[in-house]
Amino acid sequence: MAIRQIREIGDNLLRKKSRPFEKVDEKAKQLLEDLYDTLKVSKDGVGLAAPQVGVLRRAIVVDLSMDEENPQGPFKLINPVITKKSGSQVCREGCLSIPGKLGDVTRPEKITVEALDENGKNVKIKAEGLLAVVFSHEIDHLDGVLFIDKATELFDEEDLREEEE
Ligand code: NI
Repeated sequence: MAIRQIREIGDNLLRKKSRPFEKVDEKAKQLLEDLYDTLKVSKDGVGLAAPQVGVLRRAIVVDLSMDEENPQGPFKLINPVITKKSGSQVCREGCLSIPGKLGDVTRPEKITVEALDENGKNVKIKAEGLLAVVFSHEIDHLDGVLFIDKATELFDEEDLREEEE
């Protein structure tokens, strides 16, 4: 296992487009494991995309297994594509590459994601609510798109915490 360093905003690599894998080989599997290990040690992270650890390949991990209401995942996906979307929802998002910032982003309410899993098997995942948001956010990373590009409003995490107190 390997924990990789997470690239942060200002790093040009986060703005580049990632290349697909031709097949799920050892390199792809290792990348998924590293993404998963890195996500597990992060604070509050529910998803991570390969460019965030400096690798421009189409791989993501999403883990909502800690969600009390609706635990789902972990999902470890290669070449994920959104093949269907419907509805809309606004969610307050953050990103491990943009520490301290949150923003309200409009995303589809329901999506279908098609991908290869860590064994190279075709998978089709129907996601809604938070899971649809996280998949959309991570897949955006593969095209160099960050949530701050789509957010209607941005907040400092610090300010929000003070307001709550
Ligand atoms: Ni992110």
